[in-house]
Amino acid sequence: MKKFLSIMGLFCLLTQTQVMAQGPNRLENLGHQIFNDRALSEPRGTSCADCHVAKLGFAGNNGSKIGVTRGSKPTSLGLRNAMSNAYTAFVPTFHFRVEGDDVDAVGGFFWDGRADTAPTQAVLPFLNPLELNNKDAASVLQKIASAPYAKQFKDEFGQQIFNNPTLAFQKVGVAIAAFEKTPPLQAFSSK
Ligand code: HEC
Repeated sequence: MKKFLSIMGLFCLLTQTQVMAQGPNRLENLGHQIFNDRALSEPRGTSCADCHVAKLGFAGNNGSKIGVTRGSKPTSLGLRNAMSNAYTAFVPTFHFRVEGDDVDAVGGFFWDGRADTAPTQAVLPFLNPLELNNKDAASVLQKIASAPYAKQFKDEFGQQIFNNPTLAFQKVGVAIAAFEKTPPLQAFSSK
């Protein structure tokens, strides 16, 4: 029995090491590259990672000192402070929790919960004039189609994906949301 247990223990350890050694999968890796790509703003030079900085717990203000974010244009100041996008994998869709007379708004993304899911949230900063300031989804997709990871994007979502801009833009959100679920954003460490 003892031997059986130690063999089981070894087996668990091996599987765990294997999972840890695997690193991000292709979709997560793609999301990571999009998240960090400074070519996806107008003018170029700002990425999601400039307002959601890993070492600041995935929050930050892109160099602004006044408590609200600076966007890709140096003169555009956001209306709110960037919130951390760590642990967003656990955010439920927006709803009201009613307990007796007590009504609480729960879930949803952004301070006011206005985006329902991580993939729908993730594409909105590209089009926000005070954030990445692209004029429309087509201009974001054009940049992605000529990015170093364009082939990876097509391998993941289909060789014809850029022929369907609505779907392609949704997939950008899917890739970013996959990255947002990876361990660096769910640290579970109080240190
Ligand atoms: C210019 C700074 C800026 C950039 C660039 C930016 N964000 Fe944000 N982000 C914010 C601010 C400000 C908020 C809060 C906005 C609000 O509540 O209206 C926010 C909120 C979020 C949230 C909501 C978290 C939650 O718990 O509800 C997520 C997720 C997020 N951003 C992801 C992204 C992604 C993905 C990108 C890139 C495509 C991005 N952000 C680019 C400033 C930025």
